[in-house]
Amino acid sequence: MTSIAEPVLDAPTLPDRSVVPAVWARYTDLVIDHGEGSWLVTTDGERYLDYTSGIGVTNTGHAHPRVAAAVAAQATRLLHGQQNIVYHEPGLRLHAELARRAPAADWGVFLGNSGAEAIEASVKLARVVTGRPVIVAFRGGFHGRTAQAMSLTSSRVTIRGDFEPLPGSVYHAPYPDTAPDVDPETARRAWEADMDALFAQLVDPRHVAAFLIEPVIGEGGYIVPPDWFLPRLRELADRHGALLIADEVQTGVGRTGRFWAVEHWDVVPDILVMAKGIASGLPLSGIMAPRELLARWAPGAHGGTYGGNVVACAAALATLRVVDEEGLVANAAERGTQLLDGLRAVAAGHRRVADVRGLGLMVALELVDPDAPGGPAPDPALAKRILAEALSRRLILLSAGSWGQVVRIIPPLVTTPEEVDRAVAIIGESLAAAGA
Ligand SMILES: Cc1ncc(COP(=O)(O)O)c(C=O)c1O
Repeated sequence: MTSIAEPVLDAPTLPDRSVVPAVWARYTDLVIDHGEGSWLVTTDGERYLDYTSGIGVTNTGHAHPRVAAAVAAQATRLLHGQQNIVYHEPGLRLHAELARRAPAADWGVFLGNSGAEAIEASVKLARVVTGRPVIVAFRGGFHGRTAQAMSLTSSRVTIRGDFEPLPGSVYHAPYPDTAPDVDPETARRAWEADMDALFAQLVDPRHVAAFLIEPVIGEGGYIVPPDWFLPRLRELADRHGALLIADEVQTGVGRTGRFWAVEHWDVVPDILVMAKGIASGLPLSGIMAPRELLARWAPGAHGGTYGGNVVACAAALATLRVVDEEGLVANAAERGTQLLDGLRAVAAGHRRVADVRGLGLMVALELVDPDAPGGPAPDPALAKRILAEALSRRLILLSAGSWGQVVRIIPPLVTTPEEVDRAVAIIGESLAAAGA
């Protein structure tokens, strides 16, 4: 390991990887020189097909020339124009442009930096607007790693388990059972009964400020809800005078084949949370809500030094232009169907692949051990082997799911039909090589 006594800024050799703490659980050892479109290129010149998009961020591909040019141009003019002190042109344009893309008319935007920070903002706004304390989140959801966001998260115990006590007045409602072998009507009745029990035993619905939902569960395993679910949450929120918060941090900006995932179900939330794909890799997040709700925050009630950073806003404006002009939302829908069909074909006959599912370019394979004592059980070891086999064939994938039993595939929205075919072929080989 490089000693901290040695100067490293221009040293001929790179510091050892161990300078980065192990808390950054890591999928690969690759050291990247640059990225282009769907590809990452290592310092040794090896090319990898990146079907992680940096966890759903680089929707326009790596270093899209138009986004990179916008960042470079902005960086030479102004790097930081603090929101409490001045206005700047990219920020003004972005607020207006995002409001134009909101799920309904007369919405406004509050900009922050990370997804977790935007989740915190949504909870603060919901509590101010309703004067109520309780947030109901859903089992399997992931909302980030700050204290409030951890309290809302139940995708994996690793995220929160070591950090109790966490902020209270958060309850986790069940998510409908979407297993392929479960009758959908039975699952719906069971969910309704569980919600009745939640309200009878734990939460007085008159105290609920908001229901918080990922329209498609992300880290929890890429679970697409049944069609009744989001409209039913809208009804529940209305009935109890609570807000509905859609966490579109991962699903937003075209990822699912619609600009916002809630559009698949014609549901208008009260607050929409965004981050990741909005600025192609620069840290930017935000919440959108009706202007009358945002106005309930007194000046100074929320904020942050870097929120709505000028370079990130310039990147977001360029990102939105690229998404529109290159038809990336439609491409996500088309490539998503191609990917899902291709994966279903290569997974056929692999008895350890329990499910192939997805929406747009959020696609997953669920792995089980069918011979486990007591019946089929999640198989995270198999998921790991598949990731390793894919990596050895220069395709980068991620895992997901509460047990790590899901292989998730998150291509950039610019991915081509040829790249999808290549990924499907590699995943087919990897399933066989990993013993699926
Ligand atoms: C749905 C969802 N919400 C919130 C977050 C937290 O975002 P960040 O990591 O930017 O804090 C994530 C990150 O993966 C996410 O997928």
